[in-house]
Amino acid sequence: MTIHTNEYWDARYRAGETRWDIGKVSPPLKVYFDQLVHDKHKKILIPGCGRAYEAVYLIKNGFQEVFILDWSKQALDMVKKRFPRIPDSHLICDDFFNHQAKYDLIIEQTFFCSLHPELRKKYTKKMHALLKIDGKLIGLLFDDPLFDNHPPYGGNEKIYRTVFSSCFRIIKMEACYNSIAPRQGRELFFILKPKLQC
Ligand SMILES: C[S@@+](CC[C@H](N)C(=O)[O-])C[C@H]1O[C@@H](n2cnc3c(N)ncnc32)[C@H](O)[C@@H]1O
Repeated sequence: MTIHTNEYWDARYRAGETRWDIGKVSPPLKVYFDQLVHDKHKKILIPGCGRAYEAVYLIKNGFQEVFILDWSKQALDMVKKRFPRIPDSHLICDDFFNHQAKYDLIIEQTFFCSLHPELRKKYTKKMHALLKIDGKLIGLLFDDPLFDNHPPYGGNEKIYRTVFSSCFRIIKMEACYNSIAPRQGRELFFILKPKLQC
């Protein structure tokens, strides 16, 4: 089956072949979310959300406008089953690159690494288009070469800075101190703000 299709990801979820899934909100993201005490009204997108632990954590902590997007219906059905409280209108089953809306905050968590590296420029432009001009893209990236012929595709700080700097100001990109054990020393936390032009 071709990797870069929704059928491929649906099949992975159906078969339970989801090694990327850490079963909880990622600790570096939790620390970031916990200091957003005045931002609970912000419109948030989690693209390539999978089982969406970050969204569940945010909603349980009072964030109202959390939208999750994945082109795997299987993944979104699992989220709805586990967490029926999430409004149907906040579940978006679509190709990320087709999605049209504007957000204050977008969260990256093992979505970037699932995309073929040829799509990195397109991802950067799309993220820019989806953010309000005072919005932010924040999240985690692997600091690890990983694989070059199937996901997860890897990278390092230098590569990511080059990719993102065309459309974003890089406010922070640094090694995580609080990754889960299997990702210790292999994860970068980043905060990007959109440039006026992209
Ligand atoms: C490696 S999984 C990560 C899931 C989740 N973020 C996590 O950390 O558990 C990548 C996810 O991105 C989704 N995905 C990949 N390409 C996509 C696209 N073009 N549009 C929407 N979703 C996509 C897949 O269906 C899959 O759920």
